[in-house]
Amino acid sequence: MDTTDLVLAIIHHLLVFSLAGIIGAEFVLIRGDLPAATLKRLVGIDRHYGIIAALIVIVGAGRVFYGLKGWEFYIYNWMFWAKMTAFVIVGLLSIVPTIRFISWNRQAGATPGFQVPAAELASVKTYVRAEAFIFLLIPVFAAAMARGY
Ligand code: HEM
Repeated sequence: MDTTDLVLAIIHHLLVFSLAGIIGAEFVLIRGDLPAATLKRLVGIDRHYGIIAALIVIVGAGRVFYGLKGWEFYIYNWMFWAKMTAFVIVGLLSIVPTIRFISWNRQAGATPGFQVPAAELASVKTYVRAEAFIFLLIPVFAAAMARGY
């Protein structure tokens, strides 16, 4: 029994589920109308996305170096690198939506009756869908990684 490993595993799971919740919330919110209040909410949710993703990196690295299996188990495991690559791709895909949410929110504050441009919304939807899809691959890689594939 190792308390550090247990605590890191618990925090890792809680953070990962929170991130899934955030991606799910963004996925649903961008499907409806986007009045100013929703844009504000999206910016708030998206800020938490950044914070939680950063914490996942810290706690994930903690699991690699202070987990029971030792860092060599992961560094030489290609499933670990597949998981890291998927995580980085999800992060990169989230950049455009983040920039758009901030810009739309700013414009909605400055221009009453502001409508999100349809083309920009369509592209953000594509990014968020791609993010959600690649995110689903991460637990698949994680399960294989943990079992030494
Ligand atoms: C920098 C980012 C990350 C690092 C360094 C990292 C690292 C780790 C490590 C070391 C383990 C322990 C595996 C074992 O028991 O041997 C683990 C487990 C796990 N990770 Fe991550 N992780 C990261 C991000 C994520 C993300 C974004 C998800 C989202 C789904 C995720 C999902 C999981 C799951 C589900 C497990 C449990 C696997 C199992 O025991 O079957 N991880 N992670």
